[in-house]
Amino acid sequence: MSKELIRLKDVSMTFDGDTVLDNMNIYFNDKEFLTLLGPSGCGKTTTLRIIGGFLVPTSGDVFFDGVRINDVPPYLRQVNTVFQKYALFPHLNVYDNVAFGLRIPKAIEEGGTDIDSGSSGKGKRKKAKKVKLSKKEIDQRVREMLEVVSLKGFEKRTVSSLSGGQQQRVAIARALVNRPKVLLLDEPLGALDMRLRKDMQQELKRIQQQMGITFIYVTHDQEEALAMSDTVVVMNNGKIQQIGTPEDIYNEPKNAFVADFIGESNIVDGIMRADRLVEIFGRQFQCVDSGFEKDEPVDVVIRPEDVDIVDVSQGALTGLVTSVTFKGMHYDIIVDFKGFKWLIETTDFCPVGARIGIKLDPDSFHVMKKSEYSGMYGDYSSYSAEYDEIGDAEYQEEDAVDEEEYYES
Ligand SMILES: Nc1ncnc2c1ncn2[C@@H]1O[C@H](COP(=O)(O)OP(=O)(O)OP(=O)(O)O)[C@@H](O)[C@H]1O
Ligand SMILES: [Mg+2]
Repeated sequence: MSKELIRLKDVSMTFDGDTVLDNMNIYFNDKEFLTLLGPSGCGKTTTLRIIGGFLVPTSGDVFFDGVRINDVPPYLRQVNTVFQKYALFPHLNVYDNVAFGLRIPKAIEEGGTDIDSGSSGKGKRKKAKKVKLSKKEIDQRVREMLEVVSLKGFEKRTVSSLSGGQQQRVAIARALVNRPKVLLLDEPLGALDMRLRKDMQQELKRIQQQMGITFIYVTHDQEEALAMSDTVVVMNNGKIQQIGTPEDIYNEPKNAFVADFIGESNIVDGIMRADRLVEIFGRQFQCVDSGFEKDEPVDVVIRPEDVDIVDVSQGALTGLVTSVTFKGMHYDIIVDFKGFKWLIETTDFCPVGARIGIKLDPDSFHVMKKSEYSGMYGDYSSYSAEYDEIGDAEYQEEDAVDEEEYYES
């Protein structure tokens, strides 16, 4: 990965005495696809607003290319934003929507850079001069961008005649045509149906690579985050929980919150009896984790797909099947082990009421330090797949309106 481009240093944000971002420290590399992932209200949009220049942090600093930019207004930052609702101009066609930003004379500072040296506050900023692009250059850039987003031939179409996915491409073209170094994307695919969303994920990744710019992407959809990102930042309650590659975050979650938020996880209390020897439910198992104190209480993650179902007589643990859901490729079954309910993914059908045995290989355990989240997650007593899906859809609709109103005001 290439060099550092943006850094948030000790950034906190407080609204009316409520801490919404709590001492964030993070850097974003040039040409990186980084995703901020976390539940509603954890501070994702607030983080983007700070990077975009729409909010000044209550404390801490924002750096761009090593220069402090806390006081640089949005239009002088080399950053553009794409919102969940695309906010296109309905009375303009596709071409004019994309060309819009290029036709406004751009303020750049004397000396060529369009970013402020920043350290000194508003009063001392150098004088900006306005630069206007020629018609020919505008035309060339718009056509180039329409090609990038696969909308060549759509120049004259009204935006209201486009599908949701096509409108989203116009919004992306419009945000990229100014050649920002960084594109901020706040749940940009939230309004699209599942299929289109998957296509657009691929498309966005391709555009990011083709343009060679940094994408900072916000979602609360963990699958989307894992599929698209070079780096995932998991947030909760205004705090970074973990930063890593999708593989790191999934395979080596740092605490019970991350393990629960990323994919499905059974999380049980354990005791580390020795290096590579963990005890759960009073039984000892070989594992691959080490570096804990002898007899240290730990949280143990076992992913649903890592559990092998065997005959009761051969099971290291035995449990009772209490629910079965057909998921197409596999069944999700809920199994009761001494009152603790696990989710297990299996291709074998096990009817409700069956007693089963399970086998666990050493690498099916992931051992974590105890944390503030211990005991809060990882029991499937109230599991319901349908409920999760309905909950997500309702939430996004409401969110879209709020963000747009905010930015337009
Ligand atoms: N201008 C504001 N005034 C007061 N509180 C605010 C303001 N902006 C955000 N908040 C609060 O800050 C918290 C974080 O909000 P933020 O919009 O960053 O969350 P988010 O992670 O983007 O959530 P979502 O996934 O719902 O969009 C929320 O509790 C929100 O109510
Ligand atoms: Mg948000």
